[in-house]
Amino acid sequence: VRSAPEGASDRPSRRVVVVAGGPVLVEGPVDIECDGEPPLHVDRFLVALCACRRSRRYPLCDTSHRRCTTT
Ligand code: FES
Repeated sequence: VRSAPEGASDRPSRRVVVVAGGPVLVEGPVDIECDGEPPLHVDRFLVALCACRRSRRYPLCDTSHRRCTTT
């Protein structure tokens, strides 16, 4: 585990959950910056970020990962 950068330790840490084969769940609210797109503010209690790049609402998960079959 890496230590927090200087000055970051006084902020409360956020819980991030990586779901195998699914999204990355981040406690909200969050401000998302992605590939030169306008910043996206999401005011939800829990935000699901797409990790499979199949979402039509990328960077947010739209559950498209459930249709992904790799066997
Ligand atoms: S992780 Fe859910 S659509 Fe990509």
